[in-house]
Amino acid sequence: MTAFSRALNKALDGSELSRGDLVALLSAEGEEVGRLHAAAEQATLRVFGGEVHLRAVIEFSNHCVRNCLYCGLRAGNRSLVRYRMSEDEVLEAAGRAASLGYRTVVLQSGEDPWYTADRLCRIVGAIKARHDVAVTLCVGERPKEEYAALRTAGADRFLLKHETADPELYAALHPGTSLAERLKCLRWLRECGYQVGSGNIVGLPGQTVETLADDILLMRELQVEMAGIGPFIPHESTPLGGHPRGSLELTLNVLAAARLAMPDCMLPATTAVGTVHPRGRQMALRAGANVVMPNVTPTRFREKYEIYPGKICIGEDAGECRGCVEALIRSVGRRVSDGYGHSPRWNVPAEAA
Ligand code: SAM
Ligand code: SF4
Ligand code: FES
Repeated sequence: MTAFSRALNKALDGSELSRGDLVALLSAEGEEVGRLHAAAEQATLRVFGGEVHLRAVIEFSNHCVRNCLYCGLRAGNRSLVRYRMSEDEVLEAAGRAASLGYRTVVLQSGEDPWYTADRLCRIVGAIKARHDVAVTLCVGERPKEEYAALRTAGADRFLLKHETADPELYAALHPGTSLAERLKCLRWLRECGYQVGSGNIVGLPGQTVETLADDILLMRELQVEMAGIGPFIPHESTPLGGHPRGSLELTLNVLAAARLAMPDCMLPATTAVGTVHPRGRQMALRAGANVVMPNVTPTRFREKYEIYPGKICIGEDAGECRGCVEALIRSVGRRVSDGYGHSPRWNVPAEAA
């Protein structure tokens, strides 16, 4: 029996996958790929039925003090026109998301200190008071007290991707910081009672299948409730502008292996996977994903949130994206959930229920 078949059988038995097993799954090629994706899709359907959860993303500021080598929002990118949505504009976008039937709003930005914890708490509190939605934050590294205050203000979840589990590669890609710092923040988020999301980029320079297996092992160890897994897409105004984009095939293998290793984890069909292939999100849903994250940022800001070029949905407004994702989900035989889409493992505290 091949290493791939052995690893897949272990996954189907529910046995814990080792690093070697994950490497074998990630290296799937030819007919193995279909078997890997089918097993991941089955695992998804077993835990979540056919339900796909939607998260409405508001990209409220593209200011960033960091300099991640891969990202178009990095402080060093002087060619980007910067914007900040006002508090009222964010609340209006959240209201639009709620009126379109979304049950989760994701507030995402660069690391922007102008948006102090007080300002963010005010926004989170107002969204929770006005709308029946869960709130996810994706605003980067902050002191533990700020994470705690935001949780108290009503935020349910927090996304902070570890990006890569290789400490040397992490340090090379993130000037002035370390993987240990990132992991410290992830631990704080756990201690504050969030549903915690992490995730990694596929196709970074110097990355190997072993590193990608370590990404999955790290997320399993952290027991993350969500994992954002997407391909690297080069941006010409960054130091990695000349590096090739991450492979769609490898990204889908990572997603499928992550599903088999973490059956009840929320796994989005990312915007990045939809950017590298017109049917990328449908493919991801057939390979273990169970979440889609449509954009509800007002269209006038969208092209300025240029993490990478060619991002989908730049011209469409929130209503168009709502209809589009619904059709996309139906086209792969699934349906949109009308629940909040909390992690099946999360014990919702009484005040947040
Ligand atoms: N600033 C926050 C942070 O870094 O956690 C949140 C916003 S950041 C733009 C969201 C995610 O974008 C990052 O976690 C990173 O994985 C992803 N990203 C940035 N540049 C990318 C690129 N060139 N290709 C693929 N993903 C990228
Ligand atoms: Fe800033 Fe996040 Fe981009 Fe890094 S990935 S430069 S922290 S927006
Ligand atoms: Fe935005 Fe399809 S989700 S146009």
